[in-house]
Amino acid sequence: MNRLTTLLSCCLFLAACAGNTRSYDLIPYPNSLEPRSGEFHAAGAPFTCDPQLDEAARKAVGHFAEQLEATSGQPSEMSAGDSAAEGFLFLYDSLQPAEGYGLDVTRRLVTVRASSQRGVLYAIQTMKQLLPVAIYGEGPAAETVAWTMPCLRIEDAPRFAYRGQHLDVSRHFFPVDEVKRVIDIMALHKLNTLHWHLTDDQGWRLEIKRYPRLTEVGSVRRHTMVGKQWGSSDNTPYGGYYTQDEVRDVVAYAAENGITVIPEIDLPGHMLAALAAYPELGCTGGLYEVWGEWGVAKEVLCAGNDKTFEFLEGVLTEVMELFPSEYIHIGGDECPKERWEQCPKCQARIRALGLKDDAEFKAEHYLQSYVTKRVEKFLADHGRRIIGWDEILEGELSPSATVMSWRGTEGGIKAAKMGHDVIMTPTSRLYFDYYQARDVENEPLAIGGYIPVERVYEFDPSFERELTPEEAAHILGVQANLWTEYIPTSSQLEYMLLPREAALAEVQWCRADNRSWERFLGSLSHLTDIYRARGYNFAKNVFGVSAQTRNNPEKGCVEVTLFTQGDAPIYYTLDGSEPTDKSTRYTAPIEIRTGCTLRAIAQRDNIEVRPYTRTFTANKALAHPIVLNTQPRDNYLYGAPQTLVDGFESDFTYSNGDWTGWFGDPMVVTIDMQGASYSSVRLGTLVQKGMDIFAPLALKASVSEDGEHFTEAGSLDIPMETAADPDGLKSYTVTFPETSARYLRVEAQTVGEIPAWHGAHGKKGYLFVDEIVVE
Ligand code: ACM
Ligand code: ZN
Repeated sequence: MNRLTTLLSCCLFLAACAGNTRSYDLIPYPNSLEPRSGEFHAAGAPFTCDPQLDEAARKAVGHFAEQLEATSGQPSEMSAGDSAAEGFLFLYDSLQPAEGYGLDVTRRLVTVRASSQRGVLYAIQTMKQLLPVAIYGEGPAAETVAWTMPCLRIEDAPRFAYRGQHLDVSRHFFPVDEVKRVIDIMALHKLNTLHWHLTDDQGWRLEIKRYPRLTEVGSVRRHTMVGKQWGSSDNTPYGGYYTQDEVRDVVAYAAENGITVIPEIDLPGHMLAALAAYPELGCTGGLYEVWGEWGVAKEVLCAGNDKTFEFLEGVLTEVMELFPSEYIHIGGDECPKERWEQCPKCQARIRALGLKDDAEFKAEHYLQSYVTKRVEKFLADHGRRIIGWDEILEGELSPSATVMSWRGTEGGIKAAKMGHDVIMTPTSRLYFDYYQARDVENEPLAIGGYIPVERVYEFDPSFERELTPEEAAHILGVQANLWTEYIPTSSQLEYMLLPREAALAEVQWCRADNRSWERFLGSLSHLTDIYRARGYNFAKNVFGVSAQTRNNPEKGCVEVTLFTQGDAPIYYTLDGSEPTDKSTRYTAPIEIRTGCTLRAIAQRDNIEVRPYTRTFTANKALAHPIVLNTQPRDNYLYGAPQTLVDGFESDFTYSNGDWTGWFGDPMVVTIDMQGASYSSVRLGTLVQKGMDIFAPLALKASVSEDGEHFTEAGSLDIPMETAADPDGLKSYTVTFPETSARYLRVEAQTVGEIPAWHGAHGKKGYLFVDEIVVE
């Protein structure tokens, strides 16, 4: 427990003794919070609002007063002024930072100080989290609700100026009402930017008056693939788009909630829907069809055709009329170059511009830079700035472009060093289309990966090691992305957002020294009560049992420590049976020595969560000392080498922390068998060829008494995967005469060069290993 938590616990204890059971469950947590004794009675309290606050801020105050009236059932008087003896007083304070606020709650008077609408909105969100959850309801609350707020003092302001959430409405379309719900969710978490991904290969969703076919033709796909079966079809047309009036409505609604909408027109790739509407804009002229499959289409805008630029300028002119944001997102990601390589117009443009291949990039990359720069100049002439995905760094980029780093944080770091502003949105942390629970077979279908709430929470946007303070100042903020290939419904959309949005909010808002997973997790029940009051669908696995495993070589066992949010009691079984509150109560780490299935539940009144389940494979090397003789790739090192002998065989998710990944180099590890006798080694691997992950080409076991001189015990050659071989979990075994040699060395040969049939041919391949099972 840190000092703050200790202090808070004492205060909460005192507050509880004083009959006040409300706690300071605030997410994102404020910069400074000073508890005081006593409480303020909010129902029926008068409101005084400083006329110096701007109209949007005053409107926010009025809206809050209406909510309090509607839910508490008691009218509040509203007046203009800059002083009051009681009730709520909202003051203009020029000393507050743009989005900051001060909140001073005493028994009679609540004073809010802010310099902007956003400051007022964030103070209101904080107060709503301090008030009973009933404030989030739609109508009058039960009479028993005590409309109190604890006395305290808060000074608060966000860490980052850009706090974004991205929403893809191309792959699946979400009507205006659901977009507004997303905006509400963002506002609840104090986010300030909605990145609206409006166009893509699978559907154009924005009415453009100059180009009516974009929505007439480009907003409807003939069919959609089923699940993850490429080539399949549901034989059902799918479409939807926003009229310009609807867009203006969304933009205005967002503005009322302190949220800027940044539209994305993804170019020059991800344009198949537009090409289906206007085939003359493509390199080949067609036939084009709005895509019913997921992935990256190779059809892109022709960069050699002036009509393309006329089209883009026409579209962007209307986009600028609809969206007042300073930034326009121009995409730029995943633009395949093969059409440009073959297109006479594109090649003529390359020659005319004198673009050449160099050591780093091809002429076609510079052609994309040319498109980006031309669009950037057009927007700059109209007072706007561009944001693009990190691919826009490939080639040349003008310094005023802002880079959105999605393929990890490296692109963002590089861009910040070059002097670009940067928004961090790394796939491995902030892609909310990934699974958030481990037992994926019980989850709605997701694109893959595994990003639980804690993985979002742990994202550290400081980059102190990589960047100087001047360079780090270019990091404008952080955003999570929500791609919707596998999100067909609004309810699933909310599920994917929540509660990860809460963790995102703390990454974006809280100073580094003010973040605490324990404090956050403890407060999450209050926030999910709010989700429930709002009718939001949210993932509940964070309230289940979580576990930490640790090999204990001294005891010769794997120790499993179980936790629950709020220390809810845990019951477990080891025979795979369904645990109930009659099963063994968990009190101390569980010691695993043999194969078994551990299942555990948290006992809670109001939330049902699936049991935690983990199967341990019998393994004579279980928890034995093990060393790495060759180094895995840093990104995929996780808990290696101990996780290679922890009894756990993983699932198909390569990035879930259980897999260890070698890249190019062979895997070589040595296990101290400590006198056990054994006669086989089985290597558990993963094949996911689309991710360049292959089976090994050879497996060898060698043994030694002294740990220095090894003799081969057995080996196995493994044929190279063909394109037709299915992906999956694959294991390989070598057997040999029984031995009790002390040291066992296991070597596996990685694919040195990816074969010719593969898109990444010639590059090195990965070998992913989850477990080395010795029998
Ligand atoms: C992206 O995820 N293609 C930016
Ligand atoms: Zn072309």
